[in-house]
Order: sequence, then structure tokens, then C-alpha cells
Amino acid sequence: MLDKNAHVRASNLSVNFGSVDVLNGLNLDIQKGEFLVLLGSSGCGKSTLLNTFAGLQEATSGQIWIDGRNVTWEEPKDRGIAMVFQSYALYPKMTVRGNLSFALKMNGTPRREITKLVEDAARILQIGHLLDRRPSELSGGQRQRVAIGRALVRHVDVFLFDEPLSNLDAKLRAELRVELKRLHRELGATMIYVTHDQVEALTLADRIAAMKDGVIQQLACPDEIYNRPANRFVAQFIGLPSMNFFKGKLTRKDDKPIFSSSELTLSLEDYEAETSLEEGQEVELGIRPEHILLLKDPSGIASGMLGTIDLVEMLGSEQIVWVVAENSRFCMRVPPDEKLRHGERVAVQFRTDNLNLFSMQHGMRL
Ligand SMILES: Nc1ncnc2c1ncn2[C@@H]1O[C@H](COP(=O)(O)OP(=O)(O)O)[C@@H](O)[C@H]1O
Ligand SMILES: [Mg+2]
Repeated sequence: MLDKNAHVRASNLSVNFGSVDVLNGLNLDIQKGEFLVLLGSSGCGKSTLLNTFAGLQEATSGQIWIDGRNVTWEEPKDRGIAMVFQSYALYPKMTVRGNLSFALKMNGTPRREITKLVEDAARILQIGHLLDRRPSELSGGQRQRVAIGRALVRHVDVFLFDEPLSNLDAKLRAELRVELKRLHRELGATMIYVTHDQVEALTLADRIAAMKDGVIQQLACPDEIYNRPANRFVAQFIGLPSMNFFKGKLTRKDDKPIFSSSELTLSLEDYEAETSLEEGQEVELGIRPEHILLLKDPSGIASGMLGTIDLVEMLGSEQIVWVVAENSRFCMRVPPDEKLRHGERVAVQFRTDNLNLFSMQHGMRL
């Protein structure tokens, strides 16, 4: 059944190229006004899904619904959507104003209205002073703004973005990210945004659909994706530096569940499990770098271990410290003023209220 509240919906959607199934019976409901990010590594099928929403890619089977309408066989121009690509694809001979108004001229929008729409978009994107320049006279960030502006003038209520910031340098990317977020708040439109960049996903999304091999692994808000990843794949994909993993077993001590390996014993009393924790089960324990703490007094070590500092990366606001222990190598975040040297012996403590356990068998969070 169609979810009445879903603004954009993929229902049992399959797309294949010859013998290659890129999407296979995918379901996804996106709410009105939601900022949904499709996140996954290159080749996992993000663009294919987005293009199918847009009508640039034909569905092999299944349906696309927009605003309660089955648009599976509608032309892109009739779907009420606008799309922004990674390559800005501006018309090089036209000015910014020409680029922004082109589609409107083509669909016969009255001149007066065009002027107003272009000026509104230029104001929102802060490119008013660039309207008479050509694309060759703009920086990368300015060009991408114009590309977004071209989508904006169309006054649709669904925007599709395919890695729009990937071509920009890191600083500009961070700036435009903030602006996109503001834009979303201002327009209240539904936005579906494709990226392989987990920071973009975490900062922009209302909900993230984390994809692997054409399959949505988890659909949840950034907080949940980060703190309660559904499986081992999502856990290692999200977060930089990545979550640390330790192989071990579930056992019991004084009738309380514990994680145990040759070098580490941790209480699981605070652990919020998805399923029952079976004794003897082989598991991987996951813990984020910010949840491993340096211990000043190693004698008090209760839920941690000893290790040797292998490498220190100073990032200004913090240090990423890599530690090698008996059977493992892991990293932790440490305040910048802590003086640490390569080769130094340290004691570390694991915060047991921030653990994740994954089945060694199927990789799902336990
Ligand atoms: N037109 C096409 N013909 C054949 N294979 C394609 C075509 N477009 C995409 N693919 C394949 O489909 C898979 C998903 O591609 P794509 O959706 O572009 O991934 P992403 O955007 O996540 O990087 C890839 O393996 C890609 O090689
Ligand atoms: Mg792509």
C-alpha cells in the first residue's frame, strides 16, 4: 500500500543493466520536506536510484510515486522535480542570468516573472553580483551555486542532488554544505541528496539511507546511524577515524554478560542489545575513538588495557592517537594539550556505555 504521507516513494523498484542487477526490489519512502541522504561508496547504485526518481533512468520493474502520483512512466519534465549534478553543466556562452533563465524561457514563463524568479534565486544563493558574468569568469563554488540556482528558479518541491559538492575543495565544500542546509530550511522542499561523503551525510540529513551493493543497510537519523549502526558495514563506513573493532566472545561472570578477548574484558551491563546475548557467541566489539579514554593512573584500570603509542596525529583541536596492544591496533581522540610520544606505554579505558556488538556470523548489531 502507498504510504499516504510519503512524498517520494520507490516501491519494489528494480533496475538492471543487462545481466547486472543494480537495484533489486528496493523500497524507500521519503516524507514531504525531508532532507534524505543516499550514502554509499562509489558504484553502490546511488545515482541509479536518483536517476530513476528523476526519470532519467527507466525502472526495470516496480514503481516511483511522487506526491501521491504514480510517475513511473512520466517524462522527467512532468515529475515536478529539479536536479543538480556534480558536473555543473552550465551553458558556457551564456551569462549567469542567461543560465538561470534558460529553462524558464523554454517553458514560456512570462518575462516579468522570469526576472523575479532569477532575482529571488540569486539573492538566496548570494550570486546577485555575478548575474552578468559568464561561467568561465566564476570560481568552482560560484559555478556550483549557479547550478543550484538553475534548479531553484523552477519552484518545484522536490530537489535531487547528485554529489553536487564533490568537485570543490574541502573548505568550499564545508561552506556550501552549510548553505544547502540553510536553503533547505528556507524552502522547506523535499531534498534527496546523493553522496559518498559521510560527513556531508551526517551534517545535512534528516535521515540517511546507508547503501551497499544496491541494498539499503539502514535508514535512520544521523544520531542513530552514528551511535547505533545496524550492522558492521554501516559501523565502519560512518565516522572518521573509523570505529575500532575487537574480536572476542560473549561470556558471563557473576551472572552478568561480558565481552572477553585475550586482552580485553568489558562489562556489557549497560549494553542496549537488539537481540538476546547468547553465551559463547563469537562477536566483534565496536567502539568509537572518542569512547576510549587515556588513563592517568593505570592501577585503576578496570575496563581497558595497556598499549604502546604507535602514532600521534595532531589535528589542532584534538589528537588522533594510534595505540598497539597485544593483539590489536586502535585509535582514540585525545585533547590537544596532552603530551604524548611515540613508543610511550599508556593505559586506556573503554566507555562501556558506548559499545556496539556485531555478530561474527552475519555482521548484524546484537
Ligand atoms: N548505463 C549503465 N550501463 C551499465 N552499467 C551501469 C550503467 N550505469 C551504472 N551502471 C553500473 O551500476 C552500478 C551502480 O552505478 P551508480 O548508480 O552510478 O553508482 P553510484 O552512483 O553509487 O556510484 C555500477 O556498478 C555501475 O557500473
Ligand atoms: Mg554516482
